[in-house]
Amino acid sequence: MDDQFFHARNANAIDNTQATKLGNIPEHIAIIMDGNGRWAKQKGLPRVAGHREGMKVINKIVAKASEVGVRYLTLYAFSTENWKRPKSEVEFLMKLPDRFLSKELPKLKKNNVQVRTMGEKSLLPAHTQKAVQKAVRETADNTGVVLNLALNYGSRHELVYAMKEIGKDIEKGKLAAKDIDEKLIASNLLCSDLPEPDLLIRTSGEQRLSNFMLWQLAYSEFWFTEVLWPDFTEHDLLQAIQTFQQRKRRYGGV
Ligand code: FPP
Repeated sequence: MDDQFFHARNANAIDNTQATKLGNIPEHIAIIMDGNGRWAKQKGLPRVAGHREGMKVINKIVAKASEVGVRYLTLYAFSTENWKRPKSEVEFLMKLPDRFLSKELPKLKKNNVQVRTMGEKSLLPAHTQKAVQKAVRETADNTGVVLNLALNYGSRHELVYAMKEIGKDIEKGKLAAKDIDEKLIASNLLCSDLPEPDLLIRTSGEQRLSNFMLWQLAYSEFWFTEVLWPDFTEHDLLQAIQTFQQRKRRYGGV
């Protein structure tokens, strides 16, 4: 095991005070919630049981993130590549936003959480679209932590879309090729009003981005853990935050 990249679970409890005392709480945390299938397999359960359990973790993590002062939490819930999974698993995954929101929306509203989504929604089943639209609408005025659900999201898809939008403006004569700069590209990405993630967490021991926010993660700190997503706890989140606080971000400088 490569200790440099993986973080064994710290046996010492970290509390909010420890995490917050250093200041420098990441404003935006993005999470690749991986390992649901393996969690289920280890228990001799069908893969979907892992997804169901993984869904239950979201609430605790949103609450803890909000408590310590994180402003934005982006969760990779379904990628543009996940359609390749067996039909029954895809159907199950598509029911989760609905299930999660019909149970948790009142609590999210009460806790001032603003729900947002990022991804190609038109391809989602109507019931999934309806559930997320309702949550987005009913929490739009909330001012607390932003829970940004990446649903049918793929970074390359997002970049292609952005390039097409810019291309259209060039065709119309509104822009010239020389006008294309980083700011313009960033402004054509989904959720361009959100700051880039400061910290990326990926669970389950995998170390790859899997087409997640390739542009926005250019200068983010990465934190990998072997913990499978259904086992991920508030303590793990605090551990990730504490590691982040000890990193020196140089953005290419010295
Ligand atoms: C990756 O684990 C996980 C997913 C593709 C789905 C993640 C979704 C949730 C945790 C629930 C989403 C809930 C809401 C409310 C949107 P995997 O299946 O690839 O695990 P494996 O690598 O062990 O097979």
